[in-house]
Amino acid sequence: MIKNKPLGKIISTISNKGGVGKTISSIEMANLLGKARKKVLLIDTDLNTGDISIKLKLRNDLTLLDFFEKKEKSLTGLIKRIHHFDLIPGAGGNFKFANINYVQKLKFIRAFKEVSQNYDYTILDLGAGIDRVTLDFALSADYTTIVTTPEDIQTGYGCAKAVAERLNENEIRLSEKSRDHVRIHQFAPFFIFNKSKQNVANSIFSGVRRAAEVTRSNDGVQIKPRFLGNVPADYKLVGRSYSEYHTPISEAYPTSEMAKCYKEIAEFFLGLETNNEIGYKYKKSPLEKIMSLFKNEEESIPELT
Ligand SMILES: Nc1ncnc2c1ncn2[C@@H]1O[C@H](COP(=O)(O)OP(=O)(O)OP(=O)(O)O)[C@@H](O)[C@H]1O
Ligand SMILES: [Mg+2]
Repeated sequence: MIKNKPLGKIISTISNKGGVGKTISSIEMANLLGKARKKVLLIDTDLNTGDISIKLKLRNDLTLLDFFEKKEKSLTGLIKRIHHFDLIPGAGGNFKFANINYVQKLKFIRAFKEVSQNYDYTILDLGAGIDRVTLDFALSADYTTIVTTPEDIQTGYGCAKAVAERLNENEIRLSEKSRDHVRIHQFAPFFIFNKSKQNVANSIFSGVRRAAEVTRSNDGVQIKPRFLGNVPADYKLVGRSYSEYHTPISEAYPTSEMAKCYKEIAEFFLGLETNNEIGYKYKKSPLEKIMSLFKNEEESIPELT
């Protein structure tokens, strides 16, 4: 039997502000892509408040911290099968984990490249914030997803600007390293509007698009926002699924409005795969670019003025 080569696509979820629904979105996308018979790995890369294990009630597992502390040599040894996906648990609330250094970051990115090649999709659930480690993890993805809510749209758009700025910094550094480097001048993040009805999400997205158009970049990176979907607020359902049953909504309540919305989001990714339509093409994958940036050199951090 001929086995298809895994797609090896990476999806990151990011937000400037905390508590907007990144983790729930990541879990639901992982579960639904898995249900669609894709091989999916979800990694809890929230170095500050990683809580996938709490949400899904997993105990006594090895976590990414064991990998960083060299108690576990490979990322593969951390993988746990749950529902329709594989999971690498994180270790929220540990100060050592929250302050990983350059060498550890490089070590993780290398190991992560290797392990992601065995999967159709690897999803990185990132912590809130726009520090360099978080932005570089976000940029190592083929699809960067920004989760926001109608109230938090200013910070949601701010997040897109921060990622674009970091992408620009990285592109300049890559051009300095190699004369053959073809600079990217576009960043096309996917927006998920959480706790939002469809009409509200549509109208907010129009505003986001207008804002991106008026902030035309001269020589930097232009933001081209893309609409991924909306997810309604349903506190009862979320509470039952994650606090009572510790199960994804797409498992516990597959016919609910929330599950349907997440299904559409998962289908959007599955559609991209067949259309091969992501707005721009890469010579090197985003992950390879991040790796080549950090291969031999320590990044000098610009002084704050
Ligand atoms: N659509 C929704 N309807 C109702 N409650 C929601 C919805 N989405 C998320 N929540 C609630 O909002 C809270 C934050 O969700 P979640 O943990 O997914 O956010 P996060 O962005 O990952 O947070 P953090 O920045 O802390 O990692 C949770 O308590 C969750 O129960
Ligand atoms: Mg989270």
